[in-house]
Amino acid sequence: MESVGVVGLGYVGLPLAVHAAEKGQRVVGVDIDETLVDMVNRRESPYVNDPRFNMALSAISSPALRATTHYQELKSVDAIIICVPTPTENNKPDISYVTQSAVQVGDQLRSGQLVSLESTVNPGVTRDHVLPILEQRSGLTAGHDFNLVHCPERIDPGNPRFFVGNLNRVVGGVTPGCTYRAVDFYTGIIDAEIIPLDSLEEAEFVKSWENSQRNIMIAMANGAAIICDALGMNIDNIQRGLQSKVDQFGLQLAKAGIGPGGHCIPEDIHYVIRKAREHDIDTRFLDDAADLNEKMPLYAVNRLSKMIKDAGDDQSKLRVALLGLSYKPSVADIRRSPSIEVGYHLMRRFGSIVLHDPFATMNTNTIKGADIALNLEDALAGSDALFIGTAHAEYIQKLTAGALKDLGIRYVLDGRNCLDQASILELGINYRGIGR
Ligand SMILES: NC(=O)c1ccc[n+]([C@@H]2O[C@H](COP(=O)([O-])OP(=O)(O)OC[C@H]3O[C@@H](n4cnc5c(N)ncnc54)[C@H](O)[C@@H]3O)[C@@H](O)[C@H]2O)c1
Repeated sequence: MESVGVVGLGYVGLPLAVHAAEKGQRVVGVDIDETLVDMVNRRESPYVNDPRFNMALSAISSPALRATTHYQELKSVDAIIICVPTPTENNKPDISYVTQSAVQVGDQLRSGQLVSLESTVNPGVTRDHVLPILEQRSGLTAGHDFNLVHCPERIDPGNPRFFVGNLNRVVGGVTPGCTYRAVDFYTGIIDAEIIPLDSLEEAEFVKSWENSQRNIMIAMANGAAIICDALGMNIDNIQRGLQSKVDQFGLQLAKAGIGPGGHCIPEDIHYVIRKAREHDIDTRFLDDAADLNEKMPLYAVNRLSKMIKDAGDDQSKLRVALLGLSYKPSVADIRRSPSIEVGYHLMRRFGSIVLHDPFATMNTNTIKGADIALNLEDALAGSDALFIGTAHAEYIQKLTAGALKDLGIRYVLDGRNCLDQASILELGINYRGIGR
């Protein structure tokens, strides 16, 4: 049994802290956000819609998990896991949170501790930025006095099957000794494979590349959808056909839609692009994939405008409801969500819109000038057109063709291809998806 310090109690760090405590570790969670620290200590969850996590959090005793804003408390733990944000600013990775937390960790570091950076970073960041800070601040040597590894997190918020406790992980260390210390540590808390790699950089690259691959696959689906729209084919049928090859050859398909969002898939491809360009590598296929996905919100809004125009209506007289702001179903996270981009385009085009999301917290700045509906019924009342930005279960369940007809909805742009197209068209409602 070990004790663990988790630095950064966000989407990644807090579930890890709770899970480690459930596994019998003594956990100290450090965050700069005092409100969050108080919430965690009161066992109030910031993720209201995750019942499994909320139950686990409320069941943990206070000695097993304590949150604090004081880095000094890391002195007493065996392992320190850094889970701070690594956002992009104009597609340039911002590692300032990582370096700031490394300074603070370095000041507390003592001989024998394991430090694992879980934040997503480009190859070279742990060695070139974190390691020197930790060594300078502590006077200790990595690989000799303390262990330093990169072990990227793969958590998928909202996924009912996989959570922090059963996801395979890769790990790379400064030395093989660092790597194996980390494999031992993670094996103690995670019921999945912990795969040792040869270096810090290999572990770093696995993470940014797996998300880049996902981005490219989504771009492939969106590229096919755009061609389907132009040629009058249905992406659902194309996907059905492709699936028959996938079933036999084991490839993977993504779904067409308004594009990926969140903290990982839209950002990590830009990490790789930056890194590859430093080495004069041609990144056109990555640029093109990212670019295609980033243009999908505008593509979808253009499709809505065209549908309205083709039906002979005047879009300036219509009320549009944008349903779903979060980047994926069942989560509240709206960071880099393509729905936000959709909202900006809709505002410019329609002059006013109403927003609804069952999970995301919105305010008047989320999309300036947009009205916010507190429930789905309010969003639908008086609306002529719907734009589905997120495939939340509530929408799939409630937005049946009959319900749409009864509410007088005349246009549906399904940005997630999640509603029943055939039955909606059958009732004479104008419907377009992405590629269908
Ligand atoms: N969200 C995901 O689904 C996901 C999945 C896999 C990997 N990641 C990666 O994990 C990392 C963390 O992402 P997240 O979504 O948990 O971020 P987040 O914004 O939800 O949480 C980060 C937390 O770190 C805290 N913090 C910031 N600076 C700090 C500091 N100096 N000291 C202590 N705390 C500090 C913030 O207050 C916040 O609570 C990122 O690199 C991200 O790319 C995220």
